[in-house]
Amino acid sequence: MARITTATIKEKKRRQERITMLTAYDYSMATMVDQAGIDMILVGDSLGNVMLGYENTLAVTMDDMVHHTKTVSRAAKNALVVADMPFLSYHISLEEAVRNAGRLIQEGGAQAVKIEGGTERVDTVKAILDAQIPVVGHIGLTPQSVNAFGGFKVQGKDLETAQKLINDAHAMDKAGVFALVMECVPSELAKRVTAEIACPTIGIGAGAHCDGQVLVVNDMLGMYSGHIAKFVKKFADLQPIILEALRSYKEEVESGTFPAAEHCFAIQDEVLDKLYGGS
Ligand code: KIV
Repeated sequence: MARITTATIKEKKRRQERITMLTAYDYSMATMVDQAGIDMILVGDSLGNVMLGYENTLAVTMDDMVHHTKTVSRAAKNALVVADMPFLSYHISLEEAVRNAGRLIQEGGAQAVKIEGGTERVDTVKAILDAQIPVVGHIGLTPQSVNAFGGFKVQGKDLETAQKLINDAHAMDKAGVFALVMECVPSELAKRVTAEIACPTIGIGAGAHCDGQVLVVNDMLGMYSGHIAKFVKKFADLQPIILEALRSYKEEVESGTFPAAEHCFAIQDEVLDKLYGGS
């Protein structure tokens, strides 16, 4: 399979082929996501929730992102790796934004970065693009703005926020993002925006008419015990399966049935005899 590039993703919209994206944060999961043929792996700052146990994404640092991006990049043979820029890594100055985006590419091995925000982030997107780093935009419910929004709320339901979503989508498209994540917005609005802009839209809680879809892998595999949003479909329910395996392990170790002969290494009797004198 040929490596997915930003050109492949744009071409998919032109051909009306749906784009797939999932998050991954570690080598084992990223290997499976890649083997499944998913187009893009997002090293999302949602790792703050599902990997690090934080309440939201705000505590995630650049070092956290670089660390997890490195491991995902080592696993991804075909998928395009997109790394999230964490809270405050692109808000202070354009110079810091470019330097931090560069770390995710140079140290992390990602092929692109994702930033949250609309019209207010146009200059940031342009500065990062100037450094030859492809950018994915993220509008609608942007989790890094949870305190400004006053909670995790669907965006674009009223006239004002719907108009803002449309303005943000056009601004990001014009700025040059190669794909645009739209999170938690009404399906009909996402459909209109998808038809209006040139770059592919990747929906999460944005209905079936986006050019692609993204989900947090731990949510869709039923491996996360925290809050699960309405838009998540569990494609598997792995938590009870994993729990059952862990309990069996405990029981077998405690009862002495694990390890069995096939899990053990042998030594010749004469070697043992020499060591212990036949005792
Ligand atoms: O961090 C993340 O996983 C994301 C997705 C929810 C799009 O930004």
